[in-house]
Amino acid sequence: MNEAPQVPVTILFVCLGNICRSPTAEAVFRRRVEEAGLDGRIRIDSAGTGDWHIGHAPDPRAREAAAARGYPMDDLRARQVSVDDFYRFDFILAMDDANLTDLRDLDPGDGRATLMRFLDVLEGGPGEVPDPYYGGEDGFGRVLDLVERASDRWLARFTEPTGPAS
Ligand code: 4NP
Repeated sequence: MNEAPQVPVTILFVCLGNICRSPTAEAVFRRRVEEAGLDGRIRIDSAGTGDWHIGHAPDPRAREAAAARGYPMDDLRARQVSVDDFYRFDFILAMDDANLTDLRDLDPGDGRATLMRFLDVLEGGPGEVPDPYYGGEDGFGRVLDLVERASDRWLARFTEPTGPAS
């Protein structure tokens, strides 16, 4: 039996468009949380730094790649990250360095959120989830590979007895 966080932990995944990488992370991590029996203890959302795709479903290539591994994401809709998110979420996890820079610019400074890169939990890892939007189909499989590995590490951090992301 895993050690559940004492209070619900809230996590926001952020990329540029909120139609490829961050909704993929949301779908994969949600599955991990469900499998661990932690629904309601870890709350998850995703957003984009840009506004181009607000209200849109995830990119069909991302949906297809995720569905092939059993992660449904058809019901997700893109939204833009806001200053309010820094007060609402415990962790805001950027997919790449540009997202992190944009989030630092938006950070009001007195929020509750810990801001870092999603892949910082992978020691010696690539650091960034490469943007697959303008690339080939294999980019979406690469996103899923990285997201699955990082999600396992994040879940372990939240379920280890020493507490979240220490
Ligand atoms: P995402 O990918 O940030 O992983 O959702 C992108 C989606 C759309 C665009 C760029 C990246 N775009 O330029 O519209």
